[in-house]
Amino acid sequence: MGALKTDRGDDADGLKRRARSALWRSLSRRLTTAEVGRRVMYFSEISSTMDAAREVALGNRQTLRLRSSAGVSGEDRPAPVIGTAIFADYQSGGRGRLDRTWVSPPRKSLLLSVILEPFGFSTALSVFPLMTAVSLCSALETFLGVAPEIKWPNDLTLSGKKFCGVLCRAHAFPNRPDEGGGTARQIVVLGIGINLNQRPADFPPEIRETATSLRIALGKRIPRIALARRILERIDADYQEILREGAQPLLRRYKARCTSLGRRVRVILPDEEVIGWAEDVAEDGSLVLRVGEECQVLVRAADVVHLR
Ligand code: BTN
Repeated sequence: MGALKTDRGDDADGLKRRARSALWRSLSRRLTTAEVGRRVMYFSEISSTMDAAREVALGNRQTLRLRSSAGVSGEDRPAPVIGTAIFADYQSGGRGRLDRTWVSPPRKSLLLSVILEPFGFSTALSVFPLMTAVSLCSALETFLGVAPEIKWPNDLTLSGKKFCGVLCRAHAFPNRPDEGGGTARQIVVLGIGINLNQRPADFPPEIRETATSLRIALGKRIPRIALARRILERIDADYQEILREGAQPLLRRYKARCTSLGRRVRVILPDEEVIGWAEDVAEDGSLVLRVGEECQVLVRAADVVHLR
């Protein structure tokens, strides 16, 4: 059977996509943020919102159009880059931490990247993954009444099962000649993947035991756009606080929510595993691991398993 056509020659899928695009883009008008979400882009399908963010930061509108099979950025005027939030219904090449993939069926997750330029920010950029995890917890708590736990460094879990991951990337770009050339601009892209409306069968068998979604945990469908709004507002508030006051208040909130701390954990590194007590999180986000009386180890990037 042929695709359903309207008088204007649009097929039903195209219409739905345009309606969704309009809804997502109207999000920026409803936000009360200083920076985050000043511009909202939506793609029904894209390789990865992380790639899109990099292209936006580089100003490559052409590349963006080519890469997304059904992209609707909906803008023909120059728009602000910093604060841009990019959403996708589906990613064909979604990426996770530690070079993993991030797979999610269409429209079941919240998949987004946010571009920030923490200009003049003196503390390590590595505070931003921690900030993102804290912002997500606060937004989910106020909007849905759930209290997620943070497993170091920034996995969000409910009853020990992961439903959300965070991937942050920093990029340095040389200034364009018309900007005076020279000094590189540094941007940070926050990448967020939240399992919202998956049912158990939506997860591949190998992660079915360890992954969950908010729908499974709460027993109700989660509205994506309304939640997205709360998240952007929370990220903006925490980001502005860091720019104003430094990272200490945020780090304190992170430590209060990080359930890895004070636990015995197995740390899984690329070629070894270490067991120890998770004592603290350093200012650069590293895990401070006590391995025996005399030995403290700083772990920058790894997976941890809570032992008890
Ligand atoms: C993790 O491994 O836990 C981090 C997963 C991060 C996934 C998100 S989905 C939106 C953004 N685009 C990507 O390709 N990855 C991040």
